[in-house]
Amino acid sequence: MYVLNTWYVAAWSTEVTRKPVRRVICEQPIVLFRTQDNQAIALADRCAHRAFPLSEGRTIGDSVECGYHGFTYGPDGICTKVPAQSSIPERAKVRKYPVVEQDGWIWVWTGDPELADPADVPDTHWMVDPEWATVTHSYNFKCRADLIHDNLLDLTHESFLHKTTVGDDYIYEHGITVEVEGNVVSVDRLMPSVEAPPLYAETMDARGLFDRFHCTEFFVPNLHVLHSGITGEGKPREDGYLIKVLNGITPIDAHNSWYYYAFSRNFAVNNEQATEDLRVGLATVLDEDASALEAQEIGMQTRPEGEFDVLIAQDGGVAKARRILSALLKKEQQAKSAAGPAVRREPVAPRTA
Ligand code: FES
Ligand SMILES: [Fe+2]
Repeated sequence: MYVLNTWYVAAWSTEVTRKPVRRVICEQPIVLFRTQDNQAIALADRCAHRAFPLSEGRTIGDSVECGYHGFTYGPDGICTKVPAQSSIPERAKVRKYPVVEQDGWIWVWTGDPELADPADVPDTHWMVDPEWATVTHSYNFKCRADLIHDNLLDLTHESFLHKTTVGDDYIYEHGITVEVEGNVVSVDRLMPSVEAPPLYAETMDARGLFDRFHCTEFFVPNLHVLHSGITGEGKPREDGYLIKVLNGITPIDAHNSWYYYAFSRNFAVNNEQATEDLRVGLATVLDEDASALEAQEIGMQTRPEGEFDVLIAQDGGVAKARRILSALLKKEQQAKSAAGPAVRREPVAPRTA
């Protein structure tokens, strides 16, 4: 089960070109391509004729041509050409998905298009702001999206899983403050008078003691924005070295997820060596997460029924986010049941012969 009435990151802007590309989101195959005037388009990646993936075809003008028998679909998903005949069957159309392109990401709305509001796409401007330097990665995680959410909401794992990069004992030694506003859960941790994290200390040229902080904002169910950094002891956070980590989490299916990652910093912005060192170091961090979560996914699949997570105080954000997620799922299920079955079957006509 997935929350569908939301915007999910479907690709980096640079990945969507005139050549169709396929993404599976919440088990829905989607083809992405650009029109001649550079608009990103998302259509169901399944030809109405015989279900061949349109992503295997090519763009012609603003349309995409199926690579099997040439049915051609406009950017609205309606078939405009059937090469083998002059008439176009009425049912020859594919679903069109609402799209927003913002700050280098292509977001796709997977639910009821009537409810899609571009204003609901969260702020991610740091990725393109010239006052910030950004390192990006994208991954296929072999785990359900829920495990990534839990991972990002409970950063005490950094102390153990990321010992050599971003972790140390300060993290689990300090408690959290959890807040909820609408569908956003914030988990804040302040670590006063401690050293800078090992991976960033050199880039920040930070020696001595600082107030360290991180606050994960989870825009349930699609994006985590981690506001992190160090500042002088007792000084305001905004005066310090700041980091914004954007984590676009997009379910592929029940056991696989897309992870779109951007790490923006407001220090050493023009230092290319720092950017390269961070790119390499952060890839190590993400590799560690990927293999831990894959192992955890196997653990989940082999866990006997009736055995549940043992949550502790540090899981306060996890618990709150799960509650919001299940409320969103319930709301969508109820709306679906109220609308009745998607396809009404006509009663079969009695045989007369
Ligand atoms: S399957 Fe696409 S044209 Fe036949
Ligand atoms: Fe991690």
